[in-house]
Amino acid sequence: MKVGVLGATGMVGQRFLQLLENHPVFEVSALAASSRSAGKKYVEAVDWYLDTPLPKDLAEVEVERCEPGMDADLVFSALPSDVAGEVEPRFAEEGHLVASNASALRMEGDVPLVVPEVNPDHLSLVDDQRRNRGWDGFVVTNPNCSSIILALGVAPLRDLGVEEVRVSTMQAVSGAGYGGVPGMAILDNVVPRIGGEEEKVETEIRKIMGSVEGGGVSEAGFTVSARCNRVPVVDGHLESVWVALEEAVSVGDVEEAYDSFEGEPQRLGLPTAPDEPVLLRGEEDRPQPRLDRNAGNGMTVTVGRPRIKGGELSFTVLGHNTVRGAAGASVLNAELLVETLL
Ligand SMILES: NC(=O)c1ccc[n+]([C@@H]2O[C@H](COP(=O)([O-])OP(=O)(O)OC[C@H]3O[C@@H](n4cnc5c(N)ncnc54)[C@H](OP(=O)(O)O)[C@@H]3O)[C@@H](O)[C@H]2O)c1
Repeated sequence: MKVGVLGATGMVGQRFLQLLENHPVFEVSALAASSRSAGKKYVEAVDWYLDTPLPKDLAEVEVERCEPGMDADLVFSALPSDVAGEVEPRFAEEGHLVASNASALRMEGDVPLVVPEVNPDHLSLVDDQRRNRGWDGFVVTNPNCSSIILALGVAPLRDLGVEEVRVSTMQAVSGAGYGGVPGMAILDNVVPRIGGEEEKVETEIRKIMGSVEGGGVSEAGFTVSARCNRVPVVDGHLESVWVALEEAVSVGDVEEAYDSFEGEPQRLGLPTAPDEPVLLRGEEDRPQPRLDRNAGNGMTVTVGRPRIKGGELSFTVLGHNTVRGAAGASVLNAELLVETLL
């Protein structure tokens, strides 16, 4: 299937190209970015920051403007949210399938917000979306990076009765995009606010863990409270999480819930699915960004230090924010929709 990447020169756009190199289903046929880059060869337009080489066959490709009609059945969107809100509907209207990272459409009732191991059934909303909007194509979104990592940490506990979730995040600088956080602001420092992030984390997980009803999503009933911090780490978001559960559980019950967790991508053998979507480590000093962000090629989320205190569970969870939290999430969504919907 021919695919395009919108925002191909950015942090997430580059991850898309890295993950799509030699992909068994998707072949990159178009690259697009802003008018600053359009008309240039990709190699001239991009500040390549990844530690694998820029894919050779894409270096000389001319970057296009983000206009529908490009030579691609499916487009991955790594656009800034305000741009995505205007561009993505136009692509869907013209018949492209859009797998988006951007927040613009995530919370709209007929737009699936999917983590394939948690709520693959939400993809069914694309039928309502096409009907409601008269589009030939459709938009499927993945959550914000911190929300995906949190959702994968909490979903295995679903059967234990989640009543309340509180989270404090320590988020890597790559999450702000290329040039997003000045070095002088973050070196030797922690910034206790990331604009709009706490609201996203508090709302998105309730949609992800909700159920599809009447052409929309009935959100999960638990409450969520988030504090988000930017820390001087390049890649990998670490989150401290507290979960109030309906049932009195032991650490053994919690370990069993994580160890037995499996998702639809694993059952279907999707190309980007890690063997273990959630890995529970036993060491007292794990997970750590530098040591654990590349688990499962960056697609495995690592949980550590589950503890029960005062009837409440706490744990630490870590995930790679531009792989599992962004480009890898969209690629896995696209693999799931190709396998199950087309
Ligand atoms: N970084 C993460 O960990 C992460 C995680 C989850 C979700 N996201 C979301 O993914 C999206 C991309 O984030 P990022 O970190 O990759 O940002 P980024 O590094 O700033 O890249 C932005 C990309 O969008 C292009 N662009 C900017 N303005 C445009 C316009 N007016 N028209 C067309 N293209 C335009 C840029 O092209 P030029 O190079 O030509 O300017 C660049 O390719 C955002 O919505 C972000 O919230 C990011």
